Amino acid sequence: MRLFLDTANIEEIREINRWGVLQGVTTNPSLLAREMGDVEKAWRLILEEVSQGEVSLETTEPEAEAMYQQGKHLASLGENAIVKVPMTPDGLMAGKRLTEDGIRINVTLVFSPAQAILAAEIGAYIVSPFLGRIDDGAADGMHALRQICDIYDVQGYETQVLAASLRHPMHVVESALAGADIATMPYDVFTKLVKHPLTDKGLAQFEADWEKLQKELKEGA
Ligand code: E4P
Repeated sequence: MRLFLDTANIEEIREINRWGVLQGVTTNPSLLAREMGDVEKAWRLILEEVSQGEVSLETTEPEAEAMYQQGKHLASLGENAIVKVPMTPDGLMAGKRLTEDGIRINVTLVFSPAQAILAAEIGAYIVSPFLGRIDDGAADGMHALRQICDIYDVQGYETQVLAASLRHPMHVVESALAGADIATMPYDVFTKLVKHPLTDKGLAQFEADWEKLQKELKEGA
């Protein structure tokens, strides 16, 4: 399962990219609004920073023709750009035309297996079910993800399943178990993946024992 960061903050992307595990970034209008500034410049910086991975850039035009034109422009910003279209009739229309042009699309704002089937049927490169937001509605986001992964397996759909709206490390672990191809998560969830109290405790013990040994060797010399 590939690990993506769900952010438009270039500093967060640079930091996690240094770990060597980042394979992509997802952005959306809300994340860009948080950062302020020139959106096109922000997209270009992210595309350049994650040049080895994939960066999802979201369309904002609600109507199919305008969304298609905007999608063409977003795709032209970088070879690693993936165009996000919403799960709406206009999103499907624009998305289908973009895929026919050979542009990779990510169908976003997906909340049900039925919507995921539609995304696969237009040949989407990625489908993004929003697990956390399904949970927020007192439903089971992980169950929806498992159903989508099962349907895609049974039907032989090639669309990649991107588990989105992840809120904690167990969402990531369970997404991997369900067979998601990609998990995208905010910076705070990504940094939590690396942490374990026993790692900190074990490291502190190793450091203390190592220093003790060095001291003893020095005193014995
Ligand atoms: C994915 O592409 C979305 O940007 C994202 O995961 C939404 O997550 P949220 O529900 O935390 O806003």
